[in-house]
Amino acid sequence: MKRFSSLLLVLFFISSCQVRQNEQQAQKSKEFENGAVVTAHPLASEVGNTILKDGGNAIDAAIAVQFALAVVYPNAGNIGGGGFMVYRSHSGEVTSLDFREKAPAKAHRDMYLDSLGEPITTLSLDGHLAAGVPGSVAGMEEAHKKYGSLPWSALLAPAVALAEKGFALTEQQANEFNEMQAHFKKLNKNGAAIIRDAPWKKDDIFVQQQLAGTLKRIATSGSAGFYSGETAALIVAEMKRGNGIISEADLSNYRATWRKPIVGTYKEYNIISMPPPSSGGIALLALLQSVEKYPLKQWGYQSDSTVRVMVEAERRVYADRATHLGDPDFYDVPVAYLTDKALNQARMSKVNLQKATPSDQVKASKFPGYESEETTHFCIVDKEGNAVSLTTTLNGSYGAGVWVDGAGFLLNNEMDDFSVKPGTPNLYGLLGGKANAVEPGKRMLSAMSPTIVEENGKLKMVIGTPGGSTIITSVFQGILNVLEFDMDAQASVSSPRFHHQWKPDRIDIEEGAIPEDVRKSLEKDGYTLYKRGSIGRMENIIVLPNGKLQAGADPRGDDFAAGY
Ligand code: DON
Repeated sequence: MKRFSSLLLVLFFISSCQVRQNEQQAQKSKEFENGAVVTAHPLASEVGNTILKDGGNAIDAAIAVQFALAVVYPNAGNIGGGGFMVYRSHSGEVTSLDFREKAPAKAHRDMYLDSLGEPITTLSLDGHLAAGVPGSVAGMEEAHKKYGSLPWSALLAPAVALAEKGFALTEQQANEFNEMQAHFKKLNKNGAAIIRDAPWKKDDIFVQQQLAGTLKRIATSGSAGFYSGETAALIVAEMKRGNGIISEADLSNYRATWRKPIVGTYKEYNIISMPPPSSGGIALLALLQSVEKYPLKQWGYQSDSTVRVMVEAERRVYADRATHLGDPDFYDVPVAYLTDKALNQARMSKVNLQKATPSDQVKASKFPGYESEETTHFCIVDKEGNAVSLTTTLNGSYGAGVWVDGAGFLLNNEMDDFSVKPGTPNLYGLLGGKANAVEPGKRMLSAMSPTIVEENGKLKMVIGTPGGSTIITSVFQGILNVLEFDMDAQASVSSPRFHHQWKPDRIDIEEGAIPEDVRKSLEKDGYTLYKRGSIGRMENIIVLPNGKLQAGADPRGDDFAAGY
């Protein structure tokens, strides 16, 4: 199995999360008067909260959190990866920032195929060739230029201190670090801070001096401290050691891009989410539109009818995703058709809800004019009501598994999010074609769906999650949990999830996601159910009618809500 090592990482992550989930199922929502920050790590949440208390706005806090996560949550927090931010100002201005990685200039369509044209899938997952040109530092600088209020260096300072002085590992982290040692040793012949012979234990102090040096260069010189000079030279030297192709020119040419978010309605709510190169916003809106006419509230959470409607919508929307979604700078994505409420509802009205539709019978829509698991999310709301929903990733857990020697940070393996060959599933089983083929300078398609919900023109909810292909369906459920099933922030992220992505033709379920009687009824009607470990790690902040901020942190990990 070529994907074995990467799958092992995902499976290990899933099983350790499951234990946490059971332990923490009873977690309660927290309420804050002024500001709230929910991230995957308590120290990163506290960093963001301190910035807010010191008078920083939500963007300042987001920048500080992004850099802090690169230190305290190395499996997904990053400066060597990329991500997306959806932003809503207190006055209702909405925008989104694309700091997704790009394919290097030397990348080409068949770069992951052998001489017979068959995929060598380890190449897009493990090691240097798996890495796209990182976007996170450029993204943070861009966000700061437009909206930041505190000095840039002040936002880097907490991350520098955490890297230089170290921080105490959580139990989950120590276990993960130990599990990954052989993989890391294989890919990092010159060593890395995480590599050591003695097993890591809870409360061991993890110091990252090389990373501290890189963060200091970024603190002093902004993105030039990463994309040029010493850091760039270290990245290029690392590429040479491992047959990677990221060049100095790739680094100096990288730019983050502001994009018009996907905005649409679900009943009286406005949904604001990430546009391409994420498929997240389009697919999420299409899912919500597809189920809008059905009486979900009346049918109830986890009821047979609710699950059928959601799954049949997911099957169809993911078929469209595989065909029509890619980087809009390279491929003309039919956004308007994919998010046309009337079309999505007309399609659903023809669905037989008494029997599963085999996925082989579901084809991507044909539109006029057309021929044809590791990431992390955080939510922040400041005292003025500015809101940030940000998902950032290295792709797989610990990305390509390669630390840039001398610079101390991990490279992503985001290239696997391209379709390496039509019909060959990626790490998350997702299919793709021409729209998402590898091309130099192109951004690989994503499922990341940082989302903001408005009610009557006011901020209602900030929500998002990691989880590869399951991101979109998890955010879909998180939103319905609140809007239809009256859950609070914590219940909306804690409650068990299910997922269908067209192919493979099965419903992936977390423990407890589908009641026994519903399972039997679904199986009788042709649905295949597949039990798996946990799905995603969702964060949510809801603005209550009294103006308080209700925060929910996913119990599947060390996730934590801070605020004041
Ligand atoms: O951009 C994407 O859709 C994927 N690279 C996200 C990967 C992910 O969420 C893994 N997390 N568990």
